[in-house]
Amino acid sequence: MCGIVGYIGFRDASDVIIKGLKRLEYRGYDSAGIAILNGDVKVRKGKGKVINLENMLIESGIKGNVGIGHTRWATHGEPNDVNAHPHWDGKHNFALVHNGIIENYDALKKELTKKGHIFDGETDTEVLAHLIEEIELVGKVDFETAVQMALKQVDGTYGIAIVNKHEKDKIIVARKGSPLLLGIGEDEVFIASDASPIIEYTNKVVYLDDDEMAIISRDGYQVKTISNIELTKEVHELEMSIEQIEKGGYPHFMLKEIHEQSVTIADCMRGRLLPDQNKIVLGGIERVLDRLTNAKRLIIAACGTSWHAGLVGEYLFEYISKLPVEVEYASEFRYRDPLIGPEDVMLVISQSGETADTLAAIREARKRGALVIGICNVVGSTIARETDAGIYTHAGPEIGVASTKAFTAQVTVLSMMAILLGQRRKVLSETDAAAMIKALHEIPGKVAEIMEKKEEIDQISRLFAYAPNFLYLGRSYNFPVALEGALKLKEISYIHAEGYPAAEMKHGPIALIDEYMPVVVIAVTDHTNEKIISNIEEVRARKGRIIAITTENNHDVRNLAEYCITIPETHDVLTPLLTVIPLQILSYQIAVYRKCNVDQPRNLAKSVTVE
Ligand code: F6R
Repeated sequence: MCGIVGYIGFRDASDVIIKGLKRLEYRGYDSAGIAILNGDVKVRKGKGKVINLENMLIESGIKGNVGIGHTRWATHGEPNDVNAHPHWDGKHNFALVHNGIIENYDALKKELTKKGHIFDGETDTEVLAHLIEEIELVGKVDFETAVQMALKQVDGTYGIAIVNKHEKDKIIVARKGSPLLLGIGEDEVFIASDASPIIEYTNKVVYLDDDEMAIISRDGYQVKTISNIELTKEVHELEMSIEQIEKGGYPHFMLKEIHEQSVTIADCMRGRLLPDQNKIVLGGIERVLDRLTNAKRLIIAACGTSWHAGLVGEYLFEYISKLPVEVEYASEFRYRDPLIGPEDVMLVISQSGETADTLAAIREARKRGALVIGICNVVGSTIARETDAGIYTHAGPEIGVASTKAFTAQVTVLSMMAILLGQRRKVLSETDAAAMIKALHEIPGKVAEIMEKKEEIDQISRLFAYAPNFLYLGRSYNFPVALEGALKLKEISYIHAEGYPAAEMKHGPIALIDEYMPVVVIAVTDHTNEKIISNIEEVRARKGRIIAITTENNHDVRNLAEYCITIPETHDVLTPLLTVIPLQILSYQIAVYRKCNVDQPRNLAKSVTVE
């Protein structure tokens, strides 16, 4: 949440920054701002999206080769012009942008107010700017030392960038808990919250770690701890391409990402799923495979859509690998004194690799001695670096705020892990493993077949676009898919939707059903088929409007449902990889009919880097 971009070099900094902020808008879009250093520090900022800022800059004509910018997801203080970043110190010597939360800002603000500081807005960030100013002034220390001393006084998280009119050609950045990386070019350095703003200029990046800062100039950069110990950092080479982060002719990133899934699932399996040898190779966890194989239980921790993937994982590991699993909301995990120790294995799942709650769960588990394995999409992200071992999902950058291709890639990884563990734990016969591996191999083609049903799904979307509520029902592997379908709809069309295990309906939610209630039922031909048919009958008896996601040969369900979206047959355990696709399309199309901002739904940010 919140995106930071900075530039120092020979290009027009505002150009680089505006372009970069647009790429980071998925991290927040409540307000945007920029500070350009050209003799003085010139700041422009305001409520709303980066496009407003761009217009402001065109009018002002501010130019310079050094600058920082910010796109905000509001935490402290309403999203208005004053609370937009950058924030000034009291004398307008320097400007600061911040991603994260200064938790002790209130106490600091009271102290600074007593000392005569006057604040323009309500943000925690402005307090940090004034704290640096106070330390510099009273302590008579240089600016860099003042920044270090201030950072030692703050609790919470930060990724910051600062430009100071007395420090020509210099940007100071620091990080604790909020991602920040440097892009290293020839006579230029870029700063960003993730790699998307810099990839068109350079593929060389340096990731800052917690409690580190960098002093950046045209000639290069120097990384040190905030305690002033100089560091030599590894320069990583990114494999991302510019095409991956553009819409490629689609009206929205979400639609592009839904379409990409036949390719991203295949990419995720490439070199790992070896059908000819009836084998799965997961290099990223090779080192810890014995410990994982012998684990007594697995604790999965994640948030949101990744948590739903974790729930699918629970079914997969228990059924295929006979490994007991607990699935935890990462946000709850560390606040309940969890019983986890050196004999346990935690598996965390995160698209961004930056989710603060998931990161906190990892740290708690590692503190207690557990082995932590990650499933991450963003290469080099904090979670990828802080876990003991891990598997990348290789879904490519996911930019639409509502997660789609990351979910199917996560479930693909979980399926591969479950089969591999089933084989290693000797609880899965070679014949069953072969059937699953073959079925997994065929999934990308089947996803492509479902994409051809877009028109059919469109007609259903149009009919129900203005329904005030939706119910999603599924059983077994497809119960988490019901949750995911409901989440997608809520997020991007603002329709109230609930997902339930189908049989739970009769314990309460059935009271909601009447002739106006669309009920999306995931009813594939598996061991729950008969029971779910009874659940459909119960909805029909109350005049609920059934939209079934079912398999082509499931004639019973097709006869009962008012509307049907059919998917190809696959192995029972892999059905979530197919059933979720029509639900993604349904929510996308309903959001489009309702004229919602699909890629940037209100109040959301893609990467939730605050707890
Ligand atoms: C939903 C969505 C969120 C994320 C959640 C976790 O569409 O995108 O619910 O799944 O914020 O994010 P990651 O996976 O980046 O840890």
